[in-house]
Amino acid sequence: MPNELMTTPANPDLHPAVYHSERDAMRRNTDLVIRSVALHQPDRYLRNVWRGALRRVRRRTDANILGICSTGHGASLALVSSRFGVRALSLERFLGKKNALYLAREEYREIRESLDPIPSGIRFCLRDRFGRLPPIAVFEDSWEPLFKALVHGLPLRPRDIDFVMGSESHFAINRSWQGRALSHYFPNAVVRTDLEHHAVHRYQAFLASGFGDAAVFTADASGEPLRRKGGKRIAMTFSSARDKEISVFAEHTSPESSPGRLYNNFNMFLGFEQGEEGKTMGLSSYGRDTCYRYLRPQLELFDDGSFFFPDDAALKTTLREHGIFPRLPGMPILPDHEDVAQAAQLLLDDIMHNALRALESEAPSERLCLAGGIALNSVTNERIFRASRFREIYIMPNAGDLGQALGCALFAERMLLNCPARAIGESDGLGPRYAEADVLAAIENAGLQYSRLADPVNRAAALIAEGRIVGWFQGGSEYGPRSLGHRSILADCRKPEMKDHLNDRVKHREPFRPYAPAVLEERVSEYFDLHQPSPFMLRVVDVLPHQRAVIPSVTHVDGTARVQTVSAAGNPLFHQLIAAFDALTGVPVVLNTSFNVAGRPIVETPADAIECFLSTNIDALILHNYLLEKSPV
Ligand SMILES: [Fe+2]
Repeated sequence: MPNELMTTPANPDLHPAVYHSERDAMRRNTDLVIRSVALHQPDRYLRNVWRGALRRVRRRTDANILGICSTGHGASLALVSSRFGVRALSLERFLGKKNALYLAREEYREIRESLDPIPSGIRFCLRDRFGRLPPIAVFEDSWEPLFKALVHGLPLRPRDIDFVMGSESHFAINRSWQGRALSHYFPNAVVRTDLEHHAVHRYQAFLASGFGDAAVFTADASGEPLRRKGGKRIAMTFSSARDKEISVFAEHTSPESSPGRLYNNFNMFLGFEQGEEGKTMGLSSYGRDTCYRYLRPQLELFDDGSFFFPDDAALKTTLREHGIFPRLPGMPILPDHEDVAQAAQLLLDDIMHNALRALESEAPSERLCLAGGIALNSVTNERIFRASRFREIYIMPNAGDLGQALGCALFAERMLLNCPARAIGESDGLGPRYAEADVLAAIENAGLQYSRLADPVNRAAALIAEGRIVGWFQGGSEYGPRSLGHRSILADCRKPEMKDHLNDRVKHREPFRPYAPAVLEERVSEYFDLHQPSPFMLRVVDVLPHQRAVIPSVTHVDGTARVQTVSAAGNPLFHQLIAAFDALTGVPVVLNTSFNVAGRPIVETPADAIECFLSTNIDALILHNYLLEKSPV
């Protein structure tokens, strides 16, 4: 269990040491000398050297490591600690604004005050078609509260952090002065901010998997411009991993071989924003392959896994020649748009299928690890995995850029500090946990009536079986983009009208978007064409034909479902809830959707959950053992 306390020896920084011997006293004196020299080194490299020496003098076996990233899709922070396990939190949850980025104050001022010309290094963060800035937090202002939010309830202060690892990402965090700021804020930490974007994707894919060996494939729109690539950005990498060694045998660059860029071009054509690629994926099931048939000849696939497809302008020209024009946000979705979405999906499938063939021929392992934004496309994941020779697959639940903070921290732990391999496990509830007192304070601050439940699991199951929509808040929040039973809205999947009801009255989102089932892992093959776990809702599989009428609100228009399997070991409370629902109804499946409304991130704190409950038509909210209920209309 990643968030549970571990039983390794106490950190001497947390518990002031008592020096019993002369040797200890000598070590303490050496420690003080090194520390004073380290803190007076103006250069970060030298500081790191001194702090590494300090660590060796102390002969510390435990470590508190922070990973940090800020890329085009937002910023996040992860803690990997030998005492406290793993925690991770995205800035967007903390701010309540989706895709929130970290920028340094100077950088923010530069962007805000001189939009034209936009410095090329930060151009893509302004890619919004209307020139709007994404939500931004100024690093200097919000760094400290974000760190405090991450370690909520843990006795950790900045001086207890031993290592800070950042990715060489697109924004402020990679700047040298930002590294100095981190170095100052964490006085005892070695600070490094030099990992390449796709290297971090590899680490988040492989080091979180628990596999001893694997073929590792990363794919996204692109990483940062690299000097070693003549300023080009990498979009796909193929590698083979064993223990601590990851050998890369192919890298392909953007724009010519960027699956993320290709998919994003279609996504923008359909009037969806960056970060809304899931809408194109959902819409694709409604389309026909007419558009794909005339676009497919323009796609060239090469044996090394790379490809060529015409750029955005050429794509628009081709579609215009066939009478299809870009859709603006808010315009109705026409059948032509559904066909375009299907073309995007099928072209991506072809590209990824070809890439996986290249990987298969070079990497001997039977296990596959995927990361990068493309790995969040659950339709493609399933199609390429089934067509491959791989027997096992691991896709980190936060496979996109926001998962990079954890990739950085795992890299530092495993590769730099030589700690044993660590599997993150089946739960993505890596966010900070809230005490009963926090929950109760939030309820009382809101001035709401509540009741204390002796058995929240059975009460939740009964409410769902009655057709009520239930907010479910337990444990740490999910680090990735999907609610997996910690911050979830749950409903009865047997009711055909539930999907439209949720879309209309609770989530306020497009009617074509499907809802996902959470099923008891041991019963998954009774309902779905799946015989393996899918704990992170990253695989789309067929609902067995005779079960489609049984669970209609989670069966997509094409007879598929994006399944989450729930095991008793991985998520015991949620497993109990689904089992209780099964005992009442005979169906071991519930509808599980993220606890948010359109355009907002998943709720983080008890207060966020209460606010979402009050502003939507959720019927009941269960926070830990407390029940808040609205009267039935
Ligand atoms: Fe990426």
